[in-house]
This record gives sequence, structure tokens and C-alpha cells, in this order.
Amino acid sequence: MKKLLTFALAATAMVGAMAQDFPSRPITIVVPFAAGGPTDTVARQLAEAMRPHLGNASIVVENAAGAGGTIGAGRVARAAPDGHTLLVWHIGMASTASLYRRLPFNALQDFEYLGIINDVPMTLVGKPQLPANTYRDFENHIRANAGRLNLAHAGLGSASHICGLMWQHAMGLQQAMTTIPFGGTAPAMTALMGGQVDVMCDQSTNTVSQIEAGRIKAFAVTTAQRLNDHPTLRHYPTLQEMGLRNFNLTIWHGLYAPRGTPPAVTQRLNAAMRAAMRDPVFIQRQNALGALVATDNRITPEGHRAFVTNQINQLRVVIEAAGQFAD
Ligand code: MLT
Repeated sequence: MKKLLTFALAATAMVGAMAQDFPSRPITIVVPFAAGGPTDTVARQLAEAMRPHLGNASIVVENAAGAGGTIGAGRVARAAPDGHTLLVWHIGMASTASLYRRLPFNALQDFEYLGIINDVPMTLVGKPQLPANTYRDFENHIRANAGRLNLAHAGLGSASHICGLMWQHAMGLQQAMTTIPFGGTAPAMTALMGGQVDVMCDQSTNTVSQIEAGRIKAFAVTTAQRLNDHPTLRHYPTLQEMGLRNFNLTIWHGLYAPRGTPPAVTQRLNAAMRAAMRDPVFIQRQNALGALVATDNRITPEGHRAFVTNQINQLRVVIEAAGQFAD
């Protein structure tokens, strides 16, 4: 019995020391899309706000794009579970479960859930040359040119892909547009501004600055309520106002570590993330892009995991209703 107690005390001391020593080297946050896009923006702003709460450790954001974010997510699932490799990903953690027959990870088994970061509205946007200035004109133009326009997204299961799927289904226009995948909506945005693609549904964190600069046209937002608190997005109707009943899509981002990362380390990371999310500068930067920092129980590991579990089930219904099945 004495030996067992000694061992338990030694193990506790070791874990405590691990947490105290953490981080012992630079932390890498993997973003599974191209640099400069909405996921990348969230990750970089979060990393900057977390650093003071992790002993000013170096936090490097690495972009590992491809396959709708599943390549980067798979990389983190296989990383050493020591807290120095993390993942920032969004709704794709839930949507890809219904869209890929084979995935390099299991969403609920291969990650430690560190908390939800924010909620982000999506915006229906078009290239500057698009002959439409209101949502009604926009939708009429799409109907009149069914099969001749293209919609850009960031790969199967990405937020822009899911939004495009739901929106075309809600319009009763399945496959009305050719879809063109990119490594993220940063390169897709460049193509849209250049007129190489016609339409996109993208997160406000990536579209607000381009809308305000007049480099793209905006037509609607995907949330159930108008975004009256945002100086730019408040001017755009919701898709529900435009007759697409019950359309309601908000993109959320979460922070993850590989399964098996010690609890002392995940608790340290969750505490640093929550402290960052109370930082007025982080909150202001997110709000300026239309994003709302999470404050509910989803910022706890248990709340985060329960939320994603529910989202996997909800999105399966949405994806199957939209007629898209696993590739
Ligand atoms: C998405 O469409 O999933 C994201 O906007 C991709 C990205 O962050 O680039």
C-alpha cells in the first residue's frame, strides 16, 4: 500500500511539473487552410492573445491546406500528444464526418477538445462585375444563368462549401453553379476580386474588409437575425428575409490537441484560451470582422465536445437533404 501511495504521489508531482514546465518549446497551431483566410485570421489573433498567458511562449501558425481542411486536421491527430501541436478548425470538424468515406482522423476519438473560440456569420458575395446590386437581382441572375456560373469554396466540407450546398438547396437550384475548390478562401477571394470566379459564400472575417473597400459585391448574410451591431453587415438582409425559410448558418471555430495530451496541459491551454477570449483587444478585433467571441459553456472542453457531437448529427441531416453524399 505504501509503495502504491508513493507511486501515486510521484506521478502527481510529475504531472504537476509537466504543467509547470509547459510549454517547454514553441507551440505550433496548425491551420488546415491557406494563409490569409478566415481560419488563419482567427488562429493568428488567438495565438497573439494567448501568448501572455503561456509565459510569452512562441506560438507559430502553420498552414497545412487541402481536402477541405482534413489534411491539416489529420496531421494534428497524429502529432505527439504533448500540447505543442494544436489545431484551429471550424465547422469542418463536424461536416467532414458526413462528406468523406475515409478520413485521416476520427473527430470524436482523436482529439482533446480545448474549447470553442467564436461564432462567425457568412456572407453571400459576388465578383465586382456581377450585374446585380440587390439580393433579389443576384438570385434572379443565378436562376437566369443556371449552369453557366461558378461558385468558389475551400474544398469538400469547408464552411464555404457547406454554405454553397445549403444555399443552392434552399433556392431549389441543386448544382445550379459549377463549384471550384481552392486551398482556402484567401486564394478564392483573390480569384473572385479578379473576376475568375463569380460567386462565393464566405465568412465575414474574410469578406468585411473587401466589401468595405468595394472590391467585391455583397448581397446577404446567412444568420437568422440581421447583424445590426456591425456597421457594414447591418445593411445586408438575411436569407430568411429573402424568402429562404429557416436558413440559418453560423460558422464556429474550436481549438484542439491530439488525444492523450495530459489533462494538466489541456487545462493550462484551456485557461490560456479563455483568458485570451476575455482580452478586450482580441474581442474588438474579432467584432470588427463580424465575429462574436464565445462566452457560453462551449468554451469548456466538455461543452465543446458535446456541441460538436450535436453538430455532427445536425449537419448529417442537412448534408443528406442537400443531396450531397460522401466522396
Ligand atoms: C472555409 O471556407 O472553410 C474557410 O473559409 C476556409 C479558410 O479559412 O480559408
